[in-house]
Amino acid sequence: MIRTRLLRVDPACPDPGVIEEAAMVLRRGGLLAFPTETVYGLGAHALDPAAVRAVFAAKGRPADNPLIVHTRCPEEAFALARALPEAAVRLAEAFWPGPLTLVVEADPAVPRETTAGLPTVAVRIPAHPVALALLEAAGVPVAAPSANLSGRPSPTRAEHVLEDLEGRIDGVLDGGETGVGVESTVIDVTVTPPVVLRPGGVSREELEAVIGPVREAVPAAGEAPRSPGLKYRHYAPRARAVVVRGSPGEIARAINQVLETGAGPSRAAFLLSDETAARLARRPERLFLLGGRERPEEAARRLYRGLREVDLPGVELIVMEAYPEAGIGRALMDRMRRAAGGREMDAGALAQRGFEAAGGGGETAP
Ligand code: TXA
Ligand code: MG
Repeated sequence: MIRTRLLRVDPACPDPGVIEEAAMVLRRGGLLAFPTETVYGLGAHALDPAAVRAVFAAKGRPADNPLIVHTRCPEEAFALARALPEAAVRLAEAFWPGPLTLVVEADPAVPRETTAGLPTVAVRIPAHPVALALLEAAGVPVAAPSANLSGRPSPTRAEHVLEDLEGRIDGVLDGGETGVGVESTVIDVTVTPPVVLRPGGVSREELEAVIGPVREAVPAAGEAPRSPGLKYRHYAPRARAVVVRGSPGEIARAINQVLETGAGPSRAAFLLSDETAARLARRPERLFLLGGRERPEEAARRLYRGLREVDLPGVELIVMEAYPEAGIGRALMDRMRRAAGGREMDAGALAQRGFEAAGGGGETAP
């Protein structure tokens, strides 16, 4: 158990003294969580193998899942690459600083702890004033996975980091709530056309406007996923979760049914759009609003917080409303599906088969 220090900064005007204190933790090989525009990251000196090993230990992260290296400028990021495809340069110009991670061939200077032994390294420049100030002050590249215990939803607030990692890391730089709410898009630019390994804050539409067609990573049966992180069950709440598709009217009808048949009011929890919630016969005890159905960026910003807030002892089922799959809606749906372990159904099926069929009741295997 170590004492985890909470360092507060105003994101609009980060205090240089506090930033310097945080940067010192990183330079000395310590672990420091900090806000980015996507989610909080758990930072460590990316070129210090012992510091990087400590990140894996603190999170309980499998050693074969590599980390993203954060830098303050493209020059520093590209210094970690052995080769620079043109797509990398164009994407960096268009989206950095921002929620885009580029997978490039790794320079031998990057320790194998950081790349998990892969010949490639993932790099990005975060668009958050606190993260940028910290990277500037640290003067070293910073490896940072999301600052959650492995398998838990990513943190969008400093409180979430403390929930998971208090006593396991040296400090948290609290810069308030993050903006995008889901992680960066990860794109492999070592191949042509580039492959999106993880949908995220930059949409496929935005990528294609800059470099033309990209592919999405869909591993064939038996084939290893190209991004090691994709094979782990992620963003998992303790309760069982299900994604429900349909119009707000259809989903509300199904939920009214579920609440009448079987689900005691506290056994099920709901993450719903405002439109659907407004159509419920009565307000469930555990309801988290994701915002308007037409505003997927708001739902993305709120999803992880919602999962943490409704995932309470006694809750057996979390029902999440599916959003349209365009723009950031793709990343949103990717994260919802992972949280649900792939369980998904139409509102009609939920209405017909009810709480137990959706996975409530806790007995059925995934
Ligand atoms: O928004 C984000 O990307 C946040 C913030 C903190 O920057 N970070 C984040 O890191 O989400 P993490 O570790 O939770 O997810 C990194 C993902 C994993 O799926 C990992 O497998 C993949 O990036 N990745 C890292 N290096 C890779 C590489 N060399 N090749 C393929 N995938 C890689
Ligand atoms: Mg993560």
